[in-house]
Amino acid sequence: MKTEIIKVSDAADITAALIPAAKIIKSGGLVVFPTETVYGLGADATNPDATRKIYKAKGRPSDNPLIIHVSEPSEAEKYAFTNSLYYSLAERFMPGPLTIILKARDTVPLTTRGGLDTVAVRCPEAMVARELIRLSGVPIAAPSANLSGSPSPTGVAHVIDDMLGRVDIIIDGGDSDFGLESTIVKIDSDDSVTLLRPGKITVEDISSVGIEVRIANAVTDSMKTGEIALSPGMKYKHYAPKAQLILLDGTPEQYADYIANENGESIAVICYDEEVETLSAKIPCADFYKFGKRSDELAQAHALFRVLRDTDKKSYTKIYAPLPSKSGIGLALYNRMIRAAAHKIIRL
Ligand code: TXA
Ligand code: MG
Repeated sequence: MKTEIIKVSDAADITAALIPAAKIIKSGGLVVFPTETVYGLGADATNPDATRKIYKAKGRPSDNPLIIHVSEPSEAEKYAFTNSLYYSLAERFMPGPLTIILKARDTVPLTTRGGLDTVAVRCPEAMVARELIRLSGVPIAAPSANLSGSPSPTGVAHVIDDMLGRVDIIIDGGDSDFGLESTIVKIDSDDSVTLLRPGKITVEDISSVGIEVRIANAVTDSMKTGEIALSPGMKYKHYAPKAQLILLDGTPEQYADYIANENGESIAVICYDEEVETLSAKIPCADFYKFGKRSDELAQAHALFRVLRDTDKKSYTKIYAPLPSKSGIGLALYNRMIRAAAHKIIRL
């Protein structure tokens, strides 16, 4: 398939630039588009033949459901059974990087929702994404636009690596703003939700509007044998770099001493910006990948998937990275990093 790349990051008239892509969506094709979290691989959510193509292009198991993207929170009415808690969350956090799991209406084909009786709804904040949905006139089903088993794409170069020749159009909207996928919550009752995937909208953010948040076990721990996945995505092997990723829990000094003792390995070290000099003096043979200041979790979220893709291009045997905190945006970093590390943490 020939893939057309349309650059909108500097288009004077974004709406005009998006018209060909909206036509492709309406006619059942595939369009990769930027959102504020990561790039999405989109198709008409109401067309099962179109969403089937998404699973095929990604190499994704057909029981791992897709998020449907709407241009206004109230559009969820047509595709799901909402309630007052949905609107409390929507009022505060939508448009934005929050996905809400609701009971589905049969306007959403089973193919789109992986055979479940629920559907994930998200109203993205990125202007290009919302305008594309609006112009298409249908909700857009979109998983992250990576091949299954790769990190989500946060820049158009990643999308080209994974999706060229597999989709009709790639919309280049520059680098993703946040860099990790949306927060996902499932509504449990009138005043509580379960967090299935942490993201930019934090547990603290949701609690601050008086909503109780339970954190699903699989967010921070490995799934136990026999445990039922609250989200199908939890049970599939997550992205892991080719090299073994090891998370170190300790001070920068302990971190440096530990890695300095590793001889004869080809090592990459993911570290905070201000620690690179001290670390490289102690560990001259390693390659260093900065991913933001220790205090700047937004910068780390922005850089993480790019750094993981970059390290994968080299043939390291081990990659070390600091274990993030579990609070605020740290929880989203923690969740992605422990999964990439297959839960290998060394306490120093
Ligand atoms: O930021 C994002 O959410 C991006 C952008 C493109 O919007 N999308 C994204 O989609 O990350 P995806 O498919 O890569 O991740 C969605 C996760 C999957 O783990 C899937 O299993 C889960 O959401 N999911 C989808 N529908 C669900 C449902 N009805 N119940 C439980 N989990 C669901
Ligand atoms: Mg994904």
